[in-house]
Amino acid sequence: MCGIIGIVGNAGVAPLLVDALKRLEYRGYDSAGVATLEGGVLTRRRAEGKLRNLEALLDKDPLAGRIGIGHTRWATHGAPTVTNAHPHQSGRVCVVHNGIIENYLELRAEAAAAGLFPVSDTDTEVVALMTDLALRGGLSPVDAVAAVLPRLKGAFSLVFLFEGEEDLLVGARQGSPLAVGHGDGEMFLGSDAIALSPFTDRITYLEEGDWVVLSRQGCVIRDRSNAQVQRPESRSAIGAAMIDKGNYRHFMAKEIHEQPEVIGHTLSRYLDLAARKAKVPDGMAVDFSGLTRLVMSACGTAYYAGLVGKYWFEKYARLPVEIDIASEFRYRELPVNPGEMALFISQSGETADTLASLRYCKAAGLTIGAVVNVPESTIAREADLVFPTIAGPEIGVASTKAFTCQLSVLASLAILAGRQRGVLTADQEAELVGALSEVPGLALKALALEARIEKLAPGLSRASDVLYLGRSTSYPLALEGALKLKELSYIHAEGYAAGELKHGPIALIDENLPVIVIAPHDAIYEKTVSNMQEVAARGGRILLITDEKGAEASGLADRDRILMPALSEIVAPIIYSIPIQLIAYHVAVFMGTDVDQPRNLAKSVTVE
Ligand code: AGP
Repeated sequence: MCGIIGIVGNAGVAPLLVDALKRLEYRGYDSAGVATLEGGVLTRRRAEGKLRNLEALLDKDPLAGRIGIGHTRWATHGAPTVTNAHPHQSGRVCVVHNGIIENYLELRAEAAAAGLFPVSDTDTEVVALMTDLALRGGLSPVDAVAAVLPRLKGAFSLVFLFEGEEDLLVGARQGSPLAVGHGDGEMFLGSDAIALSPFTDRITYLEEGDWVVLSRQGCVIRDRSNAQVQRPESRSAIGAAMIDKGNYRHFMAKEIHEQPEVIGHTLSRYLDLAARKAKVPDGMAVDFSGLTRLVMSACGTAYYAGLVGKYWFEKYARLPVEIDIASEFRYRELPVNPGEMALFISQSGETADTLASLRYCKAAGLTIGAVVNVPESTIAREADLVFPTIAGPEIGVASTKAFTCQLSVLASLAILAGRQRGVLTADQEAELVGALSEVPGLALKALALEARIEKLAPGLSRASDVLYLGRSTSYPLALEGALKLKELSYIHAEGYAAGELKHGPIALIDENLPVIVIAPHDAIYEKTVSNMQEVAARGGRILLITDEKGAEASGLADRDRILMPALSEIVAPIIYSIPIQLIAYHVAVFMGTDVDQPRNLAKSVTVE
């Protein structure tokens, strides 16, 4: 996905555009660019790579102008070059885009037939070409946009800037978020409230199919049928303070260390410690008692949180769960029935595949729940029940604190469901709630292992492949640990159910393959010990993450163990997430990869 910004302001906008793009860089950072009207003339500056390259260019060659647009790119069509960097221009119009124009080849041919030829490999450029064509046909800028929008197929949010139009920006939203920021004699358009937070907390979210005409006096919003509509203005809670790294070297490190605090904030919404009961946030009501099935879908790390949740809902609430990754779920045509609930998990609340899966279930009449970290997000706004994680903005592209907050929400909901469905007694609920209430303190203890874990980084960094093993709720953690290592250090890693090792993957085992085993000493620990012995017997290098009892039973030397505190079963997956995050973080730091913005990634994938 990409980040887009537009400002019709009262002073030089170039620095403001860059400030907003800094807040949007987590959405993609393959290239960046801005365009303003300098003396009424469209002028662009674009640079390959990180935003700092564009900043350097602007330092050397500043841009004047009180109105402008900006973009930070996650490449979909066309390599991350300057030519492919946004804004794209054709004649008197410049445009920035987040999403995919699926029929761009058809439109590109139409523009060429009219004598307008692309200079880039991007899908976005056809929007500029088609708008330019409409302008040349005599339409006004606003009418030109109104004529082009219905021609575009796919997902897009767009902001248009026109030569000679010092008090006009036009924005449109279809499948990718776009928000209006209300200033005092100035107006803003941005991908999200984070981008707009330096300028205003007064936000209006466009709905699907909306488009908006902006001037310094305000905005006029129209829906897909071009009827003028009102959309509510809300106050964003994000705050203008630049989200910074504090004393940490990376956002990821800061966010790993914020977990005790933000898990505590999250649990405070879902646990009534006085009554020792699980609950939902004040003002909400949910009833799991009559559900025949819970359908869940998410992507990446959020999906792994859902996988852990599946074990919990089935164990503590006897509620069958069907879960799938959203990119598969959305096309599976899963038979669903009224009387089921669908639960979607998403840190950003903007992931295209997850949103599409939500819309499939909504169309089928299911009650829609969403566990999200951004309450103003599209997924949150389309859900019937929003279960917020209170992780705060997560800037590191690799998700950490959002994951453990998602687990905290799912654990609380599973306990609540168990109680409502008559599976858990009041005492059992009280015991589980008591265990969860210890998580913030236990997370702090797990963080104390960091120095020990950091020492493992050099050895692991020399591996070309790493295998993570786990059983039960440690199996999704094995998948998450492998994803963390892959996306941060670029070392290939695979998560596997420990019991599956002998069905093939054991062929991989030799002295060069580190095998990281996630195994608290629980009811099935012995089974995992035998898997470890199968590995050891073939010269495999084991790193066991376990507790005192597990370590004693493992027969492994100290150097091959990470010793965790003894934990209750429901708490273990949340706390064991921390060493697997720290392993990936320190290997990446040792290898010198870009921890907060790993290559090829974006924080939220709003294209399919
Ligand atoms: C997490 O480390 C990854 N960057 C990625 O898998 C992420 O979890 C996934 O894209 C889902 O994002 P969401 O939670 O915002 O929907």
